[in-house]
Amino acid sequence: MAKVYVTRPIAEEALTALRAEVEVELWPEPEVPPPHEVIVEQVRAAEGLLCLLTDSIDAAVLSAGERLRVISNCAVGYDNVDVAAATARGILVCNTPGVLTETTADLAWALLMSAARRTAEGDGYLRAGKWQSWSPQLLLGQDVYGAALGVVGLGRIGAAVARRGKGFGMRLLYTDVERKPEVERELDIEYVDLETLLHTADFVSLHAPLTDDTVHFIGAEELALMKPTAILVNTARGPLVDQRALAEALRERRIFAAGLDVFESEPIPMDDPLLALENVVLLPHVGSASVATRTLMAKMAVENLVAGLRGQRPPHPVNPEVLSS
Ligand code: DGY
Repeated sequence: MAKVYVTRPIAEEALTALRAEVEVELWPEPEVPPPHEVIVEQVRAAEGLLCLLTDSIDAAVLSAGERLRVISNCAVGYDNVDVAAATARGILVCNTPGVLTETTADLAWALLMSAARRTAEGDGYLRAGKWQSWSPQLLLGQDVYGAALGVVGLGRIGAAVARRGKGFGMRLLYTDVERKPEVERELDIEYVDLETLLHTADFVSLHAPLTDDTVHFIGAEELALMKPTAILVNTARGPLVDQRALAEALRERRIFAAGLDVFESEPIPMDDPLLALENVVLLPHVGSASVATRTLMAKMAVENLVAGLRGQRPPHPVNPEVLSS
């Protein structure tokens, strides 16, 4: 039986399916990832690795994993894996696209609505006993219905976020490295350059992958192009945004608010300036966190891993070129 290291407890039914196929070594802590050196140690004997976005699968892991054949990342994003180095070693890398699209789009909308209508702030205000009466100027936010939504990265999740905007009568704009004519037709969404999107949109929602080219994609200059009433939503990856520049823009009210599910460093340090601001809604990277979706992700990660170890084409290879080499 092949040996597999699993870096966190995942949905039980997925683990049971995996155990029926391979010998599983499991890191037992549900909320604490294994230290890097533990992963390095564990992959020495493993042919398969089922890991999460919190695990850095870098040169040290790959060179320790001399027997490693498949890395199955239980996430759609795989910026935590050095795919080029894995490919060079003939190791297959897989991810879990598709199953989390709608759940993540729902959460982007939860942040969008919450930041626009100040719901987290209102909840805190009420619980703190500050509510004295219905007041004409209390907790005024921004309208969502009929506003302009700018999507940065019109992939699966970006398109799902835009599709929801249609129900809110929104004008839809997007920018991407390439145009998506089919989605443009389906959603009546307009392609614009980043600059136009930033100064036109009332809501800017980020859905680009994290690569060397997208680090600090939204920095001080880009934030300066946004309307003072605009709201930035990030459910993709934290480093897309220069967090320090964002905190400054929010503090100085150069943009109205932000809704963030992802951060440059996760967990966000408790002394991060964002935590002192009321005009930002912060969530602990829970975009795909519904019971059903996390189960589907775990099952897909297992399917990828088992197929790869059997020498079959897995449902979602990131580097399929490894299969033909
Ligand atoms: C992913 O899959 O990349 C998300 O960030 C977590 O679901």
